[in-house]
Amino acid sequence: MKDSFGRRVEYLRVSVTDKCNLRCVYCMPLEGLAWLRRDEILAYEEIAAVVRVMAGMGLKRVRITGGEPLVRRDVARLARLISEVEGIEDLSLSTNAVLLAEQAQDLFDAGVRRLNVSLDSLREDRVEAIARRSGVYRRIFEGLDAAEAVGFDPIKINVVLMRGGNDDEIEDFARITRERPWHVRFIELMPTGSNLELSRKNFISCFEALERVRAIDALEPVEGPPGNGPATYYRFPDAPGTVGVITPMSHTYCERCNRMRLTASGQLRPCLFGDIETDLRSALREGRDIAPLIEETLRIKPERHYLIQGSDAGSGGLVALSQTGG
Ligand code: 5AD
Ligand code: SF4
Repeated sequence: MKDSFGRRVEYLRVSVTDKCNLRCVYCMPLEGLAWLRRDEILAYEEIAAVVRVMAGMGLKRVRITGGEPLVRRDVARLARLISEVEGIEDLSLSTNAVLLAEQAQDLFDAGVRRLNVSLDSLREDRVEAIARRSGVYRRIFEGLDAAEAVGFDPIKINVVLMRGGNDDEIEDFARITRERPWHVRFIELMPTGSNLELSRKNFISCFEALERVRAIDALEPVEGPPGNGPATYYRFPDAPGTVGVITPMSHTYCERCNRMRLTASGQLRPCLFGDIETDLRSALREGRDIAPLIEETLRIKPERHYLIQGSDAGSGGLVALSQTGG
């Protein structure tokens, strides 16, 4: 699958639900989001059908996301369906880890090998303040311990940077990569309709984060763990983990974009932002061939996102990243 700018698209991010058990300040409004109805959400068999058609066109890697994917019942069943599709070589999952301890083994057995965990602080009070839910800190760390014990590799930790919110922990997060085999990735805050004030006032660039990490010790640029993403990685001498940066704002990596997204409601999106989406759900349910729709969507994949700092002008009306799977 190649788009009109010559980018090869072999990676699909599949959102299985718009719901989440947390309310991270940058991601979701505390209330007011209208949930999809059950019949609006693709069944696991429908998702597998999309993956099968795309695999026939060259899709190789799939990531399951949300919302929070582990709040949907038996995601491991979907993982198994996807693992069985011929041509799919890599299956990964993004989670907040709150429900991971009890599901880690099932997910691994179903073929999930790589894990991304969102964790914006290492301090209990802050984790729960940022997520606006109490009692979750302990469960997140139990989830991470379980994931390591079960054998997920690599485990990547996503840290969304917020000045005054967690930027004083940049060094702590970096130091953890000397102890645990974690790949800590700092992510620049992206503006959406529900976080404009935060993203305007509290933005901090990854450039600044890296400067602070460099002050601790020498950092060597490295290839980084296997994955599909736009991160750039570094390592402290002899550390088991790495430090990565993802810079959607200070520097776009869209020219290397290799992905499309399938929302929980069955819309195929060629870009995280912008308003292009193709309704695969109706086509599937009416028994129409979805291959031409996928090809057309790929053909109109935009060259880049048009986000600008402090405004939701380029977000295509997106209120929360939980709606599209980040
Ligand atoms: N800006 C940057 N990252 C975000 N995420 C969610 N919303 C935003 C935002 N507005 C992150 C989550 C998760 C990943 C899928 O996207 O923390 O790690
Ligand atoms: Fe939920 Fe992830 Fe969004 Fe946090 S970032 S509210 S964990 S979907």
